[in-house]
Amino acid sequence: MFEAVLYFCTMANQDDQFKKVISHAKEYGYVFQSSEIYDGLSAVYDYAQNGAELKKNIRDYWWRAMVQMNDNIVGIDAAIFMHPTTWKASGHVDAFNDPLIDNKDSKKRYRADVLIEDYCAKIEAKIDKEVDKAAKRFGDAFNKEEFISTNGRVLGYQEKINTTLSRMAKSLENEDLADVKALIEELEIADPLTGSRNWTEVKQFNLMFGTKLGASAENAMDLYLRPETAQGIFVNFLNVQKTSRLKIPFGIAQTGKAFRNEIVARQFIFRMREFEQMEMQFFIKPGTQAKWYEHWKETRMKWHLSLGMGAENYRFHDHEKLAHYADAAADIEFKFPFGFKELEGIHSRTDFDLSQHEKFSGKKLQYFDPEENKSYVPYVLETSIGLDRMFLAVFSNSLVEEELENGTTRTVLKLPSVLAPVKAAVLPLVKKDGLPEVARKIVDELKWDFNVDYDEKDAVGRRYRRQDANGTPFCITVDHDTLEDNTVTIRHRDTMEQERVKIDDLRDLIKKEVDVRSWLMKM
Ligand code: GAP
Repeated sequence: MFEAVLYFCTMANQDDQFKKVISHAKEYGYVFQSSEIYDGLSAVYDYAQNGAELKKNIRDYWWRAMVQMNDNIVGIDAAIFMHPTTWKASGHVDAFNDPLIDNKDSKKRYRADVLIEDYCAKIEAKIDKEVDKAAKRFGDAFNKEEFISTNGRVLGYQEKINTTLSRMAKSLENEDLADVKALIEELEIADPLTGSRNWTEVKQFNLMFGTKLGASAENAMDLYLRPETAQGIFVNFLNVQKTSRLKIPFGIAQTGKAFRNEIVARQFIFRMREFEQMEMQFFIKPGTQAKWYEHWKETRMKWHLSLGMGAENYRFHDHEKLAHYADAAADIEFKFPFGFKELEGIHSRTDFDLSQHEKFSGKKLQYFDPEENKSYVPYVLETSIGLDRMFLAVFSNSLVEEELENGTTRTVLKLPSVLAPVKAAVLPLVKKDGLPEVARKIVDELKWDFNVDYDEKDAVGRRYRRQDANGTPFCITVDHDTLEDNTVTIRHRDTMEQERVKIDDLRDLIKKEVDVRSWLMKM
């Protein structure tokens, strides 16, 4: 018999839900604060035994979709240290800044743009409330689109958001930091922690970490820790093109660490000082960027949707303020526990990066196009996603509490099974009568294909709960009947349904559910 789910409990509010995500990540061996025994290091985190597996599985899922499934995309692994001129050429030395503002009373430091964006997010929450109220009032007859485009109060809220964000974008673009401060004052934005409105001027702050290369202080060379992986791809563009003999359009992908001295870093692994990116630069003929921009927006969204985390949790956000290198840019935003925020960026970077590296290195970075019979600097379409942010999206979306028909609740981590750290746990019903030996044999067989756990401690019901909270998609129970007929009970995490199957069929049954192929086929 399996336990029936009565209903899903959505967690009390966003703050509670986020706290629950953070503590669950710690309790179940996913994410720990870095150097915790020394009171931690702000915005730096360690991935624990389950977290490292989940992260690896997300990285593999991206790599398989990007590199393995595309004949014209190859992967590289460039160094974190790069020649310092790289960052002069890329614009990071001069322009990789965030506008910061301090509160004179609390001495807390904030990103001025984030304070304004959070203000707008609060107005957006008011719109959502109006929509919910109206949906309840009108029932089945409710038309959300019509309501949003005609309701006076909602239109007023939307107008406020639009004018605020476009004024901020314009001020930042014109480097008019005084106006950014004026906007904060006009909107009466207060320090979120203390309520004080006693602000300093807004200043620019460079986000790159500096370090030194060399054995002696006199001869040391000043370096930066890379703030994005993309530049490692640009400087290798011609090496890769020549050695792979790829023709345009083609892509170069890589995953790896990046470092940013973030001003505001209070959102767990959403905004870290050391994080990992998964980036792909797609080199194209100048003039074709609009087509490829649409192509990659659509392709990346399909990749996200293939994981089955709900289309309603994603949206595109087209940039008003473009980075110094882009002629078009959009974010894929995800509904995190604290609202919709950027998960991935898709940027049309023109020929900015390659032209800059040509200029600063004095080396040609051009492609000879045999069809056109001429050389040119290719344009670039970039897709860039934070691996840690994707981890948080998957983890927070998967964590649910369910109330069961028998009055108890269960906490279950409904990770997409392709990403789950442990695919199956094998549980002997009791610790005697030869059952542990059979269970161990099953583990020894399955571990050639999957990450599997052996678990014999506590009553079987408690072990099910533990594996549910851990995100393990299958529990395999060995009982006395197993000794007679070589069958076991397999329990499915999400439905809690149980079925009796032959030991020999376990491998195929699990593979069908967790194989990357069947998930990526949904793209
Ligand atoms: N090469 C382009 C680039 O780096 P970005 O928008 O600055 O663009 C790309 O970063 C992605 O990297 C973001 O969408 C986000 O997922 C991730 N990311 C950026 N800063 C981050 C941080 N401090 N912590 C975690 N992830 C971050």
